[in-house]
Amino acid sequence: MLISSKIYNGINGEAKIPGDKSISHRSIIIPSISNGVSEISNILKSEDVLHTMGAFKLMGVKIEELKDKIIIYGQGLNSLRQPSKEIYLGNSGTSARLLIGLLSSQNFTSNLSGDISLSSRPMGRIIDPLNLVGAKIDSKDKKLPICIYGQKLKPINYTVPVPSAQVKSGLILAALNTEGVSKLIEKDVTRNHTEIMLESFGADIDIKEENKYKHISIIGKKELIAKNIHVPSDLSSSAFFIVACLINKNSNLVLKNININPSRDGILRALKKMKANIHITNQRLLNNEVVADLNIKSSKLEGVELDKEMAKLMIDEYPILSIAACFAETPSIFRGLKELKIKESNRLELIYLNLLRCGVSCEVKNDDLYIYPNKEYTTKDSKIITKFDHRIAMAFSVMGTRLNENLEILESECINTSFPNFFKSFNSVGGKLIE
Ligand code: S3P
Repeated sequence: MLISSKIYNGINGEAKIPGDKSISHRSIIIPSISNGVSEISNILKSEDVLHTMGAFKLMGVKIEELKDKIIIYGQGLNSLRQPSKEIYLGNSGTSARLLIGLLSSQNFTSNLSGDISLSSRPMGRIIDPLNLVGAKIDSKDKKLPICIYGQKLKPINYTVPVPSAQVKSGLILAALNTEGVSKLIEKDVTRNHTEIMLESFGADIDIKEENKYKHISIIGKKELIAKNIHVPSDLSSSAFFIVACLINKNSNLVLKNININPSRDGILRALKKMKANIHITNQRLLNNEVVADLNIKSSKLEGVELDKEMAKLMIDEYPILSIAACFAETPSIFRGLKELKIKESNRLELIYLNLLRCGVSCEVKNDDLYIYPNKEYTTKDSKIITKFDHRIAMAFSVMGTRLNENLEILESECINTSFPNFFKSFNSVGGKLIE
């Protein structure tokens, strides 16, 4: 359990933010099926990413772990070997969806399992389209644990019906080892790290925009060429620090090398609308990903109304954005949060229940969240229910910096799924977290 206490001297200095989680997963998966040696620096070594790494080691990929980088010796699209035992993926939805796609077009059988949360998350969104092209996947109710009987698949021609980068990426990975041209249409913008990385590894992938939709076509069976990757720092992890700085007086924070890929920078756009004082400098390209340095200062925030389109650009950031909204001058409405209910937890419900415990008045109507801020809050129950959800735990750690009573963040060890040094890093810039 973590205890988060009120702070008085602000959030100041430079915080060290770890590598981006989405790019870290892909920095293991793609080099593992490429030809040659890839050196990956600044990779996030959190539980989720270590599960992906463990999966590829089990499938015979040689991965060397050095102090500040990992080295992956890839041997091509068909070099993976049948794992000697079940692949356990812990809490990681990204590992699960991406691996289901990749493994469905391999020539061996594999079994995937996960923790209670991952085993209750919907996998039909990736299994259904794969079934259309001949995949053989056994599961109960399309949930983990599942057994994948790797097959020669037919090329897919599919419009992705849900706003999900995991589903899109899983289908792209299946297509890499499938003869012929696979075509995907994406109606909603979702993070495009898979496409960016595959282009630079020499995949035959073509991306066009037509009638406002993104058309992705992949010619399968083209071998990939190894490349070195420097993983930029994670905007989603930065968001906890950004909001802590904005809502506390006398704060001035610097975050360097942050990935601000426009397909997932909604949190910055939303906070700007709220009149947050955030300066983006030193913008540049790193492995074709946009990165920049951020300077954040205490701000007088205004409430904001966000439509469902914004949800696609920042789905992981609603827990922490909700905390920002509690300290704005006017109410906020966040619309279209359906996907938030099927994340590591039902995040919409947990944001709502925990805000009530903190004394904030808020409502959920359909899939929309309404937050009515106050000048000061009287805590009703200091225990924060996280259901082992890392982003709920970190968001309410930030909430604690502004409440008179300490907050007890239950099951806070779940933070290790995405940010192992959160506690140290947050305290190093002025946070008051006690273990
Ligand atoms: C991710 C995609 C998103 C996001 C998750 C990481 C990825 O999930 O919420 O944290 O790395 O592709 P969905 O694809 O379910 O939206």
